[in-house]
Amino acid sequence: MVKIKINLKYNSYYIYLQHNIFDDIATFHKKYYTDCKAIIITDQNVKKYYLKKLTDRFSAKNITINAYSVLNGEKSKSFKSLESLAEKIIKKGINRNDIIYAFGGGVVGDLTGFLSSIILRGVKFIQIPTTLLSQVDSSVGGKTAINSKLGKNLIGTFFQPAAVFIDPNTLSTLPRKDLLAGYAEVVKYSLINDRVFFNWLNKHNKDNLSLVPKNILKIISTCVKKKAEIVKLDEKEKKTRMLLNLGHTFAHALENELNYKIRHGEAVSLGLLMAMKLSYNLGYAKINDFNLLENHLKSSKLPIKLKDLSNKKKWLSKNILKKMQTDKKSYKGNIRFILCKGIGATFIKNNIDKTIVKKTIEEFII
Ligand SMILES: NC(=O)c1ccc[n+]([C@@H]2O[C@H](COP(=O)([O-])OP(=O)(O)OC[C@H]3O[C@@H](n4cnc5c(N)ncnc54)[C@H](O)[C@@H]3O)[C@@H](O)[C@H]2O)c1
Repeated sequence: MVKIKINLKYNSYYIYLQHNIFDDIATFHKKYYTDCKAIIITDQNVKKYYLKKLTDRFSAKNITINAYSVLNGEKSKSFKSLESLAEKIIKKGINRNDIIYAFGGGVVGDLTGFLSSIILRGVKFIQIPTTLLSQVDSSVGGKTAINSKLGKNLIGTFFQPAAVFIDPNTLSTLPRKDLLAGYAEVVKYSLINDRVFFNWLNKHNKDNLSLVPKNILKIISTCVKKKAEIVKLDEKEKKTRMLLNLGHTFAHALENELNYKIRHGEAVSLGLLMAMKLSYNLGYAKINDFNLLENHLKSSKLPIKLKDLSNKKKWLSKNILKKMQTDKKSYKGNIRFILCKGIGATFIKNNIDKTIVKKTIEEFII
């Protein structure tokens, strides 16, 4: 079992990573939360593949379970599903000592985390992420959110889980496109501060995306350790944690332009490449690093042009730029960017010339 500590001033916790981890989760619950109910929130896909497998382990230890499922996909990160879920849970009965489990991808994790932070003014929750994106990124670090019609993740809290249990076996049923979307976040970690990791990803691309067990364990543990280091330094995203938003200012605008009909990670893939190109256009990065990144994303079958996200949409740089200025990482219309001095070397930059940003976006329209 790989065990990684998220060391925080308050509420430190562990990430447990292992193939076939479900039994360990039930054992953990029985040991630390005797007599507390397990309230499991999942979505319909995860329910179909894994809910019974998980609840059987809890039942075998005589743990009371209440399970709820939401619709698959981003639409569940809404006030409507939050309200409906909260009311069902309260009606059925919930005690402050009960434990809420987020069993699914980033959508279930963000929604459940937010719900846990406000229901009865806060109930402990545990993440059991089942997508690559949620295993390497969203389940760790305590950001919770739902979307508003004004933008993504605008309503939420910082609320750390009590533990995270990761079982890479669940990735075997994940659709290829969702696996690739998660892989974009893996590439992000290598770009932030680890060129050696990027080179390793590049060299072992085929085995990594075929989920060879030792490779996938290395990928998840490397990313989680990186996230742990950053979150420890800056839990509430005052500065260092912003580096994790590499590519996301572009990505959120692109997702918004397409009404969230694409996967978050697909937008992140293109966002990473746009951030690297912007860094090159501003004189910070070398074109060779841009080419390396572009080739890697292309060979991973991830988007590298706007038409790869949608070839029906009429892409306009001014519209994308406008969306970027309303992102929550902007201040008074000035967009805060995470830029690269090359692969493995990122930094934060404010007040960038918007004409260069616009020109950079246009290079991805062709
Ligand atoms: N909180 C954070 O720090 C943070 C960080 C990054 C992203 N996010 C959020 O995460 C969300 C995206 O997460 P995601 O990519 O996991 O999307 P998701 O939760 O929508 O899951 C993707 C799809 O895979 C299905 N699925 C999940 N696990 C499966 C499995 N094991 N087998 C088969 N199908 C499975 C889901 O039903 C869904 O259809 C976005 O809302 C994004 O904003 C949050």
